[in-house]
Amino acid sequence: MQDVLLQLQKEALDVFLKVQTPEELEAARVEYLGRKGRLAEAMKDLAALDVDARRDAGKIANDVKRTVEASFAATEARIVESAAEDRQAQEWLDVSLPGVVPAVGHLHLTTQAIDEISDIFAHIGFVRSRHPEVDWDYYAFESLNMPKEHPARDEWETFFAEDEGEIALGEKGKIVLTPHTSNGQVREMEKGVLPIRMINIGKCYRRQASARHLPMFHQFEGLMVDTNVSVTELKGVFDYFVKRYFGANRETRLRPYHFRFTEPSFELDISCAVCDGTGKVDGVKCKLCKGGWLELGGAGMVHPNVLKAGGLDPDVYTGFAFGWGVERTMMMRSGINIDDIRTLYKNDLRFLSQF
Ligand code: PHE
Repeated sequence: MQDVLLQLQKEALDVFLKVQTPEELEAARVEYLGRKGRLAEAMKDLAALDVDARRDAGKIANDVKRTVEASFAATEARIVESAAEDRQAQEWLDVSLPGVVPAVGHLHLTTQAIDEISDIFAHIGFVRSRHPEVDWDYYAFESLNMPKEHPARDEWETFFAEDEGEIALGEKGKIVLTPHTSNGQVREMEKGVLPIRMINIGKCYRRQASARHLPMFHQFEGLMVDTNVSVTELKGVFDYFVKRYFGANRETRLRPYHFRFTEPSFELDISCAVCDGTGKVDGVKCKLCKGGWLELGGAGMVHPNVLKAGGLDPDVYTGFAFGWGVERTMMMRSGINIDDIRTLYKNDLRFLSQF
């Protein structure tokens, strides 16, 4: 009996010594110390012994039980401690490690260009203003010396707002998505604050979609009205902008053109950066420009009828206006080479994150 008990004790101590996890510990406890465990089973055999032998064996059995229980307690303490150590090792935090940099976006390149353009004009006193992007026909056309049904309007392939299938009518005529930012001209004059140095940047809409045209794009409209404003100021402002935005080496030129709301009217060109204004690269015709020049946009001296529509006396005041596309201007700057303008608004991060 004695041998059986001591053998059991040895076996139990060996098992507890090897225990590594709380699960193994519980299994070993049930096996040796449980109500129906090996020790309890061995104790049952005591009943069969005679009185003296039972006393001796009972004493040993109690010693064995105490020893095994002590081994269980020690093992339990060991396991709790090592679990804490593991947790400490896992949860250890090195505060000096560099952090995980969160993904940070940036402004769209059109927005960046708008900010830059506004800033350039702000330096020469042009104040950024905003005018409606959905407006009456009156401001988009009629007040700009383009009477109703005038064929010149066809150049601006205009979207009209509809109301139950009919072209919507407002207080001042049909309602349009502004096809240019020139609707801001008379609206700015109507404020009655002179002199005017306005830069109106906004969205424009035209019925067009191709690699070079978007149905929605942006224009920036400049308007300067004061006494004695002449083409000289227009040319000066144009020159200043081009040199600031495109670089000091770029030349400018005014080419006669026709708009109903300016007289005289011009198309404004800047010298090409690829061929340096010569029209030729290594003796071959430049692929980007026409004869050394790139067209930026329209401009001219504000037509007397437009000044009148804005409540100003054309004998006292004169002014110039220009309207250029933001996307076009931005893409003309060397370094940004986009062969399809629609790429700008496809929301493809592989493209957008490059700028
Ligand atoms: N609004 C004209 C356009 O969209 C440009 C322009 C603006 C021309 C101001 C002259 C003066 O083409």
